[in-house]
Parts: sequence; C-alpha cells; structure tokens
Amino acid sequence: MKLPKITDKDLLNISQTNLDSGNSLRQRFNWNHQSIRWFLASEDTTNFYQKVLETIHPYIENLSSILDIGCGIGGFSIAFAKSGFYVTAIDSSMIAMEHLRNKIQEINLQNIKIFPVSLEDFQFFQKYDVIFGSYIMGLMEEKMIDRVLEYTTHYLILLLPYRRIKNDFCIEELYRELKIDTDYLKQSNYLDLIKILDRKNISYHIKILHSDFGQPFQTKEEGLDFINHYFPILKKYDDEVMKWLDRKCILRDGKYYLPNQKESVIMIIEKKGRI
Ligand SMILES: C[S@@+](CC[C@H](N)C(=O)[O-])C[C@H]1O[C@@H](n2cnc3c(N)ncnc32)[C@H](O)[C@@H]1O
Repeated sequence: MKLPKITDKDLLNISQTNLDSGNSLRQRFNWNHQSIRWFLASEDTTNFYQKVLETIHPYIENLSSILDIGCGIGGFSIAFAKSGFYVTAIDSSMIAMEHLRNKIQEINLQNIKIFPVSLEDFQFFQKYDVIFGSYIMGLMEEKMIDRVLEYTTHYLILLLPYRRIKNDFCIEELYRELKIDTDYLKQSNYLDLIKILDRKNISYHIKILHSDFGQPFQTKEEGLDFINHYFPILKKYDDEVMKWLDRKCILRDGKYYLPNQKESVIMIIEKKGRI
C-alpha cells in the first residue's frame, strides 16, 4: 500500500518539539508520570547502566565525589551513591526530581543531594572529582564544557548517542515506511563533542557501548502511546504504527517488549593539565 507523504508542515504542526535544532533537550525530554513508569519498566530490563558503570569503573574507582547533570529519575545517581560516592544530582524536571527524592527516602541513601535546577542556573559551590552527564546532548556546548571542566578535578564523563540519525527501537525503519523525512530524527552526537574538544586541544578517551534498552508494555495500545510520546508521527498513521509494533514487539514475561539496541559513546574527558 502506498502511503501519502507526510509533509514538513504536517510534522511541525503535530509537535511542540523543535525538530530543526535537533538539540533542544528540554523540549524533547518531557517527563510525566507515564514516561516515568515507562522508564522504570525499561530500567528493570536494560543492561545499559551496568555496562556503563563497568566501563567507567577503572577511571573512577578511587574517586569520591560526583555531580550528575540531567540525572533524570536518577538511575546513575543512585548507582553511584550505592557504590559509596558523594553524589550531587541536578535536573530541571521537577517531576523527575520529585520521583528521585521519594526513591532516596525510600532506600534511605544519605550520600546523595539533589537539586531541581537547570544546569544553566546551578550555582557551583565546590569542585567534584567527576562531573557526569548521560544523554544531555543539548547542554554540552562549548561554553558549558569550559564551565564544568573548571569544577572538575579529574574527569568529565559524557554519554552520547553514536548515531547522527536517531534509530532507537528501529524508528528509522518506521519513518521510512511512512515516508517521513528521517532528517527529523537528526540529533547531535559524539562527533559534535569531538569537534569542540579537538579544537580546544582537550584530551579524551572514547568507548563505544552496545546495550539492550528495550521497552516493555502491557498492551500494544500502550506501545502506540509510547511511540507517539517520543516520536512525532501524525495520529492518522496510528494503524500503520500498530502494524509495525505487531511486527517488532516480542512476548517476554507475559508482556510485549519492543527491542532496542542502543549504541552509545562514552567520552571520558580529562581535566586539562592533569596528564
Ligand atoms: C535523556 S534524559 C537523561 C536522563 C539520565 N541522565 C539518564 O541517562 O538516565 C535528559 C535529562 O536532562 C534533563 N534536562 C534537560 N535540560 C536540562 C537543563 N537545562 N539542566 C538540567 N537538566 C536538564 C531532562 O529533564 C532529562 O531528565
């Protein structure tokens, strides 16, 4: 069946998302109660966090303080705190920070402080052995890198997407099937950061990471809500998206599971002059 082409105008009309910049993190990552539930469900099944922690462990094992920028609901912050770090976690999303606050109280972690604030407004009052940011692409512009490096004694560690065109959940394939321009899936990736670092003569280590970060759902309709939440696709294509979900989802532990091979890059940036 030949599907009608979705025009650029259609797409821009269906989403508040600033697709052109590809960088507007704040607009693209809107936490709500449902997205927190989805994230918690995927955290239970992913090996992403464990793989990242194993990869960076040799760098951070003897260090003690970490600032986690854009911590979200705190997957990394909590893991760092549990392994003994003094953690400061910041995020601009009130709802994500509220969730993290409750979680910290529930498990009674004492060595983690949280600040519901944007990085731009965060008042640095100390230096940290490590400053860490996972998937906060839009925030790490040149000036901000200078600023955070000033407050790091050892490493700035950033996780970024490997791909220039976002392909989480094989979404690129769906876009092609619906004849949506895949330019709308453009994102800034590690190459943008490398450009800045090379220009500034800052040294870094780079690790490519493959992990499973799929999404469990109770029903396929929930899968449709999920796709519509994260990827702007016109409502009138719901049937096509449902058929695509039918093909892509597998049954796992009595739930539908949409697989996702996440390709990430870990950039371990040394404090200038340390080595
Ligand atoms: C893709 S999520 C990553 C969450 C977490 N780091 C992780 O990897 O699980 C991006 C996070 O950055 C936060 N964020 C966006 N703009 C921000 C800003 N200006 N300052 C601080 N956090 C921000 C969002 O609220 C969101 O929680």
